[in-house]
Amino acid sequence: MDTKILTTADEDLKIAADILKNGGNVIFPTETVYGLGADAMSPDAVKNIFKAKGRPSDNPLIVHVSSTDMIGGIVENITDEARRLMDKFWPGPLTIILKKCKNVPYETTGGLDTVAVRMPKSETARRLIKLSGIPIAAPSANLSGKPSPTEAKHCIEDMMGRVDAIISGDICEVGLESTVVDMSGDVPTVLRPGGVTLEQLKEVLGEVECITKVTDGEVPKSPGLKYKHYSPKAEVVILSGDFDDVEAYINKNLTDKKVGILTFDEFPKTDGVLSISLGSVNRPEDAAHRLFSALREMDELGAQIVYAPEISDKGVWMAVRNRLYRAAGERVVDVSGGIDKKKILFVCTGNTCRSPMAEGVFNHLSKENKIMAEAKSAGVFVSGAGISQNSIDAMAEIGIDISTEISKQISSEMLDWADLVLTMSQSHKDMIMAMYGCDKVYTLGEFCGDGEDVSDPFGGNLDIYKTCRDEIREKICKVLEIIK
Ligand code: TXA
Ligand code: MG
Repeated sequence: MDTKILTTADEDLKIAADILKNGGNVIFPTETVYGLGADAMSPDAVKNIFKAKGRPSDNPLIVHVSSTDMIGGIVENITDEARRLMDKFWPGPLTIILKKCKNVPYETTGGLDTVAVRMPKSETARRLIKLSGIPIAAPSANLSGKPSPTEAKHCIEDMMGRVDAIISGDICEVGLESTVVDMSGDVPTVLRPGGVTLEQLKEVLGEVECITKVTDGEVPKSPGLKYKHYSPKAEVVILSGDFDDVEAYINKNLTDKKVGILTFDEFPKTDGVLSISLGSVNRPEDAAHRLFSALREMDELGAQIVYAPEISDKGVWMAVRNRLYRAAGERVVDVSGGIDKKKILFVCTGNTCRSPMAEGVFNHLSKENKIMAEAKSAGVFVSGAGISQNSIDAMAEIGIDISTEISKQISSEMLDWADLVLTMSQSHKDMIMAMYGCDKVYTLGEFCGDGEDVSDPFGGNLDIYKTCRDEIREKICKVLEIIK
């Protein structure tokens, strides 16, 4: 098949619209990823999409519209909640699933009685749909299983000779496919995270469920969930652990296979290993924008194994994490504790002030000084009061965040975990010795050599907490010297 390469100029879009009206297929840019479009109402045109992509025919397509007027002939009824989503997020990266109209062919919906609809933000996409005058069914324009295309060159790579035309437009701004939310049941359910976040949906809808993973044997709500996706040729493995552990794991596991690392600007570089940055750790939008092209670039550069970092599931990170996990076929290796780290348990009375501050200072300084050690903290009598605000504030002042810590009661498991237990005062040490008879307990003062207990700031003002913090920090510097 001859594939025409077209531009986004009006005369080219008219040619593309004519191809679509006549039952052909056209690849076009959207703000998420490039789509492979055909007339959503024509079973034959839609069958050609599946053929061109090599996509299983039970995986339904998204129907793209250029105005809300077009939806009338596609869905049975626009619910109030769906209407609110359209008002808020359209045009944009949100796909809404509703009960379908009779005339939408089952070829488009993969045999389902529901249909997915979306109005893309991309001007080119909407101009094309408007010129053709028909709703356009379009999956991502990659060969089935490969990373979705975010640049025209990716589409040319995958689809040249398989489609009637490719419109070469801008690089896709969002870079990951739209959020898919099922509004056809009782509770709105996210089936695929994307540029519109779960948090944003909850703001509009209240309760929203989220199913993005299928366990073996379950019938997936969204058929797309059961297929391995977004995979480059290389094997992708997620490494869970902090950077030192990840680096140690990679160095230990270097084989004759070519390794690539997906990393962030802030992470140190591993010498001699191919690495591609997804941008700053603080900019999920950039990681979303770059992920698919980075995976394709790994292939171009000949990587056989791609290691990727574990990623948070908050906001836009959720979508990045989802695509990475799917690319890895859910393969995550926990490398934390891969290196022999010295484990320290700090103990005070309620685990609300002194020991959480000690834990925070210790972890911060050991990381800064690249000392292979980690700390936890606990109390001998925990009341459930939580970390005190003055401790949080005193620590925030020196750039350490302990606001998410929770007070924990000491236990024999925690004592087993620790190589060394450091208490704030003699009374804590005595209590642990009496209750657990443990031989690795010292007071912090005893261990660092000054012999002094750390007095309890409980109930004092912020200045008292700051003094306590500085006293702890001074002692911990000495502890780190000894450990080193
Ligand atoms: O950003 C996007 O959504 C891109 C651009 C081109 O718009 N399109 C896209 O399409 O990613 P596709 O086919 O690659 O992904 C559609 C997803 C699949 O996971 C599919 O299973 C799900 O949406 N889906 C479509 N219709 C559905 C339905 N009626 N019920 C449940 N899931 C549905
Ligand atoms: Mg796709």
